Amino acid sequence: MSDALKIGIAGLGTVGSALVRILQDRKEKLAITCSRPITITAVSARDRTRDRGIDMTTTTWFDDPVELAAKADIDVFVELMGGAGDPADAAVRAALSRGLHVVTANKALLARHGVELAKMAEAKGALLNFEAAVAGGIPVIKALRESLTGNTVSRVYGIMNGTCNYILTKMEKEGLSFAECLKEAQRLGYAEADPAFDIEGNDTAHKLSILTTLAFGTQIAADDIYLEGITNISIEDIRAAEDLGYRIKLLGVAQRTDTGIEQRVHPTMVPLESVIAQVDGVTNAVAIESDILGELLMVGPGAGGNATASAVLGDIADIAKSRPGAQDVPVLGRPARELEPYQRARMQSHEGGYFIRMTVEDKTGVFAGIATHMAENRISLESIVQRPKHHVEAAEPKTIILVTHATMEDAVRKAVAAIKLDGYLIGEPQVIRIERPREV
Ligand code: HSE
Repeated sequence: MSDALKIGIAGLGTVGSALVRILQDRKEKLAITCSRPITITAVSARDRTRDRGIDMTTTTWFDDPVELAAKADIDVFVELMGGAGDPADAAVRAALSRGLHVVTANKALLARHGVELAKMAEAKGALLNFEAAVAGGIPVIKALRESLTGNTVSRVYGIMNGTCNYILTKMEKEGLSFAECLKEAQRLGYAEADPAFDIEGNDTAHKLSILTTLAFGTQIAADDIYLEGITNISIEDIRAAEDLGYRIKLLGVAQRTDTGIEQRVHPTMVPLESVIAQVDGVTNAVAIESDILGELLMVGPGAGGNATASAVLGDIADIAKSRPGAQDVPVLGRPARELEPYQRARMQSHEGGYFIRMTVEDKTGVFAGIATHMAENRISLESIVQRPKHHVEAAEPKTIILVTHATMEDAVRKAVAAIKLDGYLIGEPQVIRIERPREV
């Protein structure tokens, strides 16, 4: 059996503690699978005294994770602190500059500095693995980076934030408020340190930017993403969607179009009969559409200690099994210097179906006005319904819901702007995009 693979772990939160526990509990089994033992030589965490239920007595503690990365006697630096800035960034750079392999679950860091870090790793012949950064335990990085080599990807999309999916599912199934569901997700350890990152869509955007690069071979463009979170979604939207045969999910979508690549994160209506509509709770799902394979859909746990630690462990095991000194897989699917510039497709050119919910004054000509503006913008309607179905007094505000056939975002924006000018709208209209999986 070869020498032990010595790892140093920075960050002993939910994921770090789960990883240490698994490495300790399955030590013998892992040594056989990887043909060498994996030993935790050094760790770093903010609080030394916290009881994490794990034995750390034989491990060297570092108060400073950057010092650990720069000085500890290790082969692999495992970064589980999170955050795009320091100390995570400085620590990963310190490790790579020594030629150490790095495993990280840090999507924010990769979204911001991924190309630079990939160049550093490639220059040193080190591996930089980050399976846990996107969709928790689902092996989507490996799928895109290795398994789909040679395929041309046309679209990659998915549910990549467990907190949002948990909230939307719980609102739908239990009729609870958004705030109650968010609190529960935080209690269960799914949410980011700042939950705004989850519910405003930034976490999904970071993950999407990484998938886009792997799928399309372009530079990471985390700032070029159309972004809408779920804070605006009400029970009324969820119920209306259901009545019309849809379910609302927060999707991240990257798609090749004639004018560039669309990257968008927004609440999305997916057909009830699609597989992705059945993905509930903290579960994530990623679909990849490509020319040779067709559609690949992977579903699995997307957040939480064990799911994330499982992906981190897979990355460590890959390093343990790799040939010494060989950098087998380009970090971002192709050598970082070969990545193409990212060309953003304008959101106004996005084509798809739309759900539009409006509260209107109940007066003659409202339906006709709405229909006229739709026609003026060449928008074809799939359905138009007025709610509530039960009798209410005439002249009380009514809800009108439109579902369009595939149309251009620009046309929808123009039609809605014209409807607003007519003066019968009460409050802001709700516009939700519809996404059709290939299967439906
Ligand atoms: N806050 C993230 C989520 C954790 O809810 O999915 C995993 O990235």
